This record gives sequence, C-alpha cells and structure tokens, in this order.
Amino acid sequence: MDKINAVITGVGGYVPDYVLTNEELSRMVDTTDEWIMTRIGVKERRILNEEGLGTSYMARKAVKQLIKKTNTNPEDVDLIIVATSTPDYIFPSVASILCEKVGLKNAYAFDMSAACSGFLFLMETGASFIRSGRYKKVIVVGADKMSSITDYTDRATCPIFGDGAAAFMLEPTTEEYGVLDSALRTDGKGLPFLHMKAGGSVCPPSYFTINNHMHCVYQEGRTVFKYAVSNMSDISEFLAKKNNLSKDNLDWIIPHQANMRIIDAVAHRMELPMEKVMVNIQRYGNTSAATLPLCIWDYEDKLKKGDNLIFTAFGAGFTWGAVYVKWGYDGKKAVE
Ligand code: UT7
Repeated sequence: MDKINAVITGVGGYVPDYVLTNEELSRMVDTTDEWIMTRIGVKERRILNEEGLGTSYMARKAVKQLIKKTNTNPEDVDLIIVATSTPDYIFPSVASILCEKVGLKNAYAFDMSAACSGFLFLMETGASFIRSGRYKKVIVVGADKMSSITDYTDRATCPIFGDGAAAFMLEPTTEEYGVLDSALRTDGKGLPFLHMKAGGSVCPPSYFTINNHMHCVYQEGRTVFKYAVSNMSDISEFLAKKNNLSKDNLDWIIPHQANMRIIDAVAHRMELPMEKVMVNIQRYGNTSAATLPLCIWDYEDKLKKGDNLIFTAFGAGFTWGAVYVKWGYDGKKAVE
C-alpha cells in the first residue's frame, strides 16, 4: 500500500473587529507605544468584546470560511480538534460546540491543551489520524480569546495578547505533500514561570482568587523569553538539518508570534532573510494557539505548491517544537 501523507488543502481564519491600539492601552496602564514596539513589536491587537461570545464564536467563523473555501460538505468531515487555552467552558469542549454550529453531523470532536504550542502539536496529531488511513477529512483549529484571561492592570502582560482563530483542512494524499516531519517536546519545567493560578482543580474560583487577579496569565517574562529563543531556534535548526533544508531551499519559517525579538532571533539562527519569515504580530499580538494558522491565513496568496515550510512554537508547560510542511497548492488561486 502507498504511504499516506496528510496534506493541508485549505485555511480559514477570523479576527474580531475591535482594534485595541497601543495608544488606548497607554491610557489603561503605565506604558507607551515606543516601549511596546521595541520590547514586543505589537502595534495593535483584536479583541472579542461583545458580551456572551467566547472562543467558539471565532472558531466557528474560521471553520465556516474554511468549509466554504474548500467546497466541503460538512457531513463529510470525520474529525475536528481544537487547540485552545481559553475554552468557552471547562466542559464541554469548544470542538463539540462547533459540531452543532457548523453542522458536522458525522464527526467526533475534542479539544487539545498545549498552550501556545497547541496548533503545532495539533498539526502532527491531525496528520496522524489521516496517515492511519481511517480518516479522510480532519479539521484542526487554533483559537484563543486571550483577552478573557489577560489582566488589563498588569502592564507586563496586557500589551502582548489578542484574540483570533484559524483552521486547516487535512486530507490524505499519496504524493510527497503535507505534514512530512515534526520534532515536538514537553518538559513540564515551565509551570512556575507561565501559568494561570486559579480556576483549575488545585485552586478553584473564590472571592480571594478573583480579588487577586488569579484568573489571568501569570508570566515571568525574562525566563520565558530565554527558553523560547533557545528552544525554538534549536528545534527548528534540528528539523531543518534532518530534512536537508537550508536557507536555499527553505521557503518560509512560521514562528509563533509571541515577541518580535524572539522571531528575529529564530530567523537569524536559521540564516533566513525576513522576507521568508511570516510575521503579523504587529497587527494581532499573541493569539496563543491561533498564531500559526493566522499567519498562513494572512500569507496564503504568497504560498506556492511545493514550498518548504517550517512552523515553530513555544508555550506554557514548557511545550515547543517544529513541524515541516511541504505546501500542497498555489495559494493565489485559493484566495482569488
Ligand atoms: O507565548 C508564550 C510564550 N511567551 C513568550 O514568549 C513571552 C516571552 N517574554 C517576553 O516577550 C518579554 O519578556 C516581555 C515582553 C514579557 C517583557 O519584556 P522584557 O524586555 O523581558 O521586560 P522586563 O519584564 O525585563 O521588564 C523591563 C522593564 C521593567 O522595568 P525595570 O524593573 O527595569 O525598571 C518593567 O517594569 O520594563 C518595565 N515594563 C514596562 N515598561 C513600560 C514592563 N512592561 C512594561 C510596559 N511599558 N508595558
């Protein structure tokens, strides 16, 4: 039997309309556009500010667009998996809500938790279902409403995050396209440096946790920064070498959009010019699990069949890794 690869056949995305600028943030906390641009590289981020709407609302918009663009009958979808740290509810999953909202009548669905590396891990996970031969259409979604866990009184974290969602369709092919290789890691050592203190089973919600802003992202920025730079750079270089990719035949690197200085460092290590690096941090900030697919959503028209792509991310856990994809279609045609 021929080897089955999992090829990406389309992308859909969604960001909310409301634009939170550095100017507005500098009226909320003691910060400046200049500090945020030089230390992080975010100019503005999108915020889902309508009451009663959660992550599944953005995910639903992204998946509906994906289904339309790929001409998919929703009843043909076998599986949908959502990577998120900000589900609508602790349970049920965002993915289960999507099944009803999008009309996926023959799919099963679940969420996956790997923080900012969620979508990276999900590409390999979704691809494995396709490679098994049992699944023909798998949707993978990265979606986060980071504004729901951001402390807008903490100047060290609130400029970083934004909201958004994006999704890929994965399908089988016997050609050499799609998710071809990956190197994924988790060490568990990151817990003290990046977590949400309350709301889980260790520390359920109480007046105390609410009064002390314990339902928001807690981050020791400098430590996380150091690990992010070294781990993303090392693993991307490792995966590139393993697949005989160098600055000459690697067409794109898609780094998690956490900090422009981290993105620069990874590009530098890979010896790639910035024209080969997907960057949209200035417009969306860090949308956690959504950054990687949102990059593809923005750059789709520039992608050509056969392009070599390396995705890389780093997040809470710590979790990190890199995924090698050979792109399967001319993006220009898909957006026309
Ligand atoms: O996506 C998951 C993974 N997360 C990441 O990859 C994030 C990694 N970390 C970072 O991106 C950076 O560490 C931050 C952007 C979070 C912070 O940047 P930094 O250059 O590491 O700043 P710092 O925390 O070391 O703070 C430097 C100074 C401090 O002042 P002092 O103590 O030196 O007087 C802060 O109080 O900058 C101050 N500061 C600010 N000043 C103006 C912190 N936040 C702000 C602010 N505006 N918003």
